[in-house]
Amino acid sequence: MREGLRIAIFASGTGSNAQALIEKMQSLGGQIEFVLTDKPHAGVLERAQALATMSYVVEKKTDRAAHEQEILKLVDEHQIDWILLAGYMRLLSANFLKALADRHEGRAQVVNIHPSLLPDYPGAGSLEKAFADKVEFSGVTLHLVDEGMDTGPIIQQLPLALKEFTSFADFKAGMHRLEHQIYTEFLEKIIVGQIPTNYFKETAEC
Ligand code: GAR
Repeated sequence: MREGLRIAIFASGTGSNAQALIEKMQSLGGQIEFVLTDKPHAGVLERAQALATMSYVVEKKTDRAAHEQEILKLVDEHQIDWILLAGYMRLLSANFLKALADRHEGRAQVVNIHPSLLPDYPGAGSLEKAFADKVEFSGVTLHLVDEGMDTGPIIQQLPLALKEFTSFADFKAGMHRLEHQIYTEFLEKIIVGQIPTNYFKETAEC
């Protein structure tokens, strides 16, 4: 395990991905530094508490710049190396990402998981839309974050055939399982130092 690597999770919802990441980190002998949410009643807060993980609620009360400044302050206080977005339903500005990149030799080190094979079905409601469209395959995408909506360079994608599922609820559960698998495997790679230094350049060129 790499000493002193500090990871924060940002989430706005129920937090099943956050929970999987916290549990994985604990199984590797570490702790997620903190969970941050913009929603004071998000389910992720209870999950973090149940796993003895620190959490912060940072609501957007005024403008975006002030909100992100508040977040950046926490990131700095905790000297965060990586931010893993897990259902964080808010875009990050180019300024915020640049501020992070300036702290990490030009790499913002923010990753997002999304329940579709991007560029298909970006944004909210991806599962519902893919299911309604009866696509043959959906899947999960892990990608670096830029200022767009689910548009950053893709790290990994795994497909899932819809014919394996009889209902929307089954499909959703299957997609969540796949998300947890991809995300926890990626977390382990970060922790054991398997992300090469030129990783960002290579990924961006894919
Ligand atoms: C997950 O399916 C995640 O991929 C999605 O929100 C859900 C959060 O679930 N994220 C996005 O749609 C980002 N554009 P969770 O709260 O149970 O982890």
